[in-house]
Amino acid sequence: MSGDESLENTLVAAARGAAAHAYCPYSKFAVGAAVAWSDGTITAGCNVENAAWSPSVCAERNAIQHGVALGQRALARVVVYTPTPRPTTPCGVCLQVIREFGPNATIACVCDGSERIEGPLEDFLPRSFGPDALASE
Ligand code: THU
Repeated sequence: MSGDESLENTLVAAARGAAAHAYCPYSKFAVGAAVAWSDGTITAGCNVENAAWSPSVCAERNAIQHGVALGQRALARVVVYTPTPRPTTPCGVCLQVIREFGPNATIACVCDGSERIEGPLEDFLPRSFGPDALASE
């Protein structure tokens, strides 16, 4: 198995593991995400909903914010897992957070079926706004 395959298997397993802990009593839609940082660190998260709705946070953002709290800043890859027949892509808010730390990150969306959606952030969020726009002022 190549290093890339091994990393991918680790990320998918971490995303699946996180999805198993999703707190989603309202939507009943569990999501797990695992992200790889530039130094190889992996952090994972699940969606955590709230009775007041707006405090709910997606799996991707919880995975990324955990890494940031560990001192990570450079996101290399994001894997999103849902226990569904078709894969789920990250919401717009999560794509913007991925953009902040991983303008060149790749994203893979996997599920219990064979379909997989995969590509660079640019495919999911073209012509994005980011920190560079502020720096040019
Ligand atoms: N959700 C995620 O965690 N990530 C996604 O990529 C899409 C949606 C969550 C938010 C909410 O808890 C539930 O899935 C239904 O929208």
